[in-house]
Amino acid sequence: LSALKPLALKNTFKKRLEPFYSVGEIYSFFEILVEKTDGLSRSDIIVNRIDLDPDVYEQAIKRLEAREPIQYIVGETIFYNLPFKTDKRALIPRPETEELVDWIVQENANTPLKILDIGTGSGCIAVSLARALKQAYISAIDVSNEALTLAHTNAIQNGVSIDFQHVDILKKDVDEFYDLVVSNPPYISYEELESMDETVTAFEPHLALFSQDPLAFYNRILQIFLKNTTVIYFEINNRFVSELTALLELKSCSFEFKSDVNNNVRFLKVWLTR
Ligand SMILES: C[S@@+](CC[C@H](N)C(=O)[O-])C[C@H]1O[C@@H](n2cnc3c(N)ncnc32)[C@H](O)[C@@H]1O
Repeated sequence: LSALKPLALKNTFKKRLEPFYSVGEIYSFFEILVEKTDGLSRSDIIVNRIDLDPDVYEQAIKRLEAREPIQYIVGETIFYNLPFKTDKRALIPRPETEELVDWIVQENANTPLKILDIGTGSGCIAVSLARALKQAYISAIDVSNEALTLAHTNAIQNGVSIDFQHVDILKKDVDEFYDLVVSNPPYISYEELESMDETVTAFEPHLALFSQDPLAFYNRILQIFLKNTTVIYFEINNRFVSELTALLELKSCSFEFKSDVNNNVRFLKVWLTR
C-alpha cells in the first residue's frame, strides 16, 4: 500500500474498527498509535501533511480487530504518572488501583515503613509506592514468575529497588512482620466471566482476574497479618461487601470501606484495635 496522510489513515481505522468499538474509542486508539509509532501530535494529525506507511499500522489494526487491549499493543501504560511496561504476562494496571495507591500515599507519607504488596502483577502498586514513599522498604510477591519478571523490569525502568519474591500466598508461609500490607488480589468469581468484556477475558491472565473463592485471599491475608501488621489495604469486589463485613466483624479489628470515583465500594482498610 502507498503512503497515507494522517486523516486518511484515521479514516481507515474508523472503517475497519467500527464493527468493534465506538468512534471515540477508535480515534483514541489512532492517536495513541500514531504518537507511539511516528511521534505525531494531535496538531500533526489535524495539519495532515506527514506521510505515514499504512503497512506499519496493519498489525495494530488486526490486533484491535481481535479485541486485544490497546495497552498490550503499545506495550506501555501510565499509572500514577509513571510509565509501566504492559503485556500478557500481567494484568493491565487500572485507574481504580491508582486511587488505592493515592489513599495509601496520603495516609502514610514521611514514615519509614516496611511494606508488602501481595499479588504485585505488573508491579504498579509496589513501584508507585516506592516512588512516592521515599522512606519505605518495599517487598512484593506473586505466584506468577512471568508477572514477577515484568514487575522487576518496571521497577528498574522507574529507578526503584523492590524485594520481589515468588510466593503462593494461599500456600506458603511468609514473614509476617510488616507495617503495611497492600493487596489487589484476584477478586472476580467465575460466574461473572460470562458478562465480562472479551477484551479482558480473552487476553488478560485469568490467574490475575479470577478466583474459585474470591474471599480466600482476604481470609488468608487477614489470618497471617492481622497479628503484627499495623494496617492492611485491599482493593475489593463490591459484590462481596457484606461477606467481607461479616468476616471482619468476627475479628477484633477496625475497618473502613471506601468508594472509587464511580461510587463503587472498591477499597478496604483494616487495622488492629488495641
Ligand atoms: C488483580 S491482579 C493485581 C495485579 C497488580 N497488583 C495490580 O493491581 O494491577 C492479582 C495478582 O495476584 C497474583 N496471584 C494470584 N494468585 C496468587 C497467589 N496464590 N499468591 C500470590 N499471588 C497470586 C496474580 O498473578 C496477579 O498478579
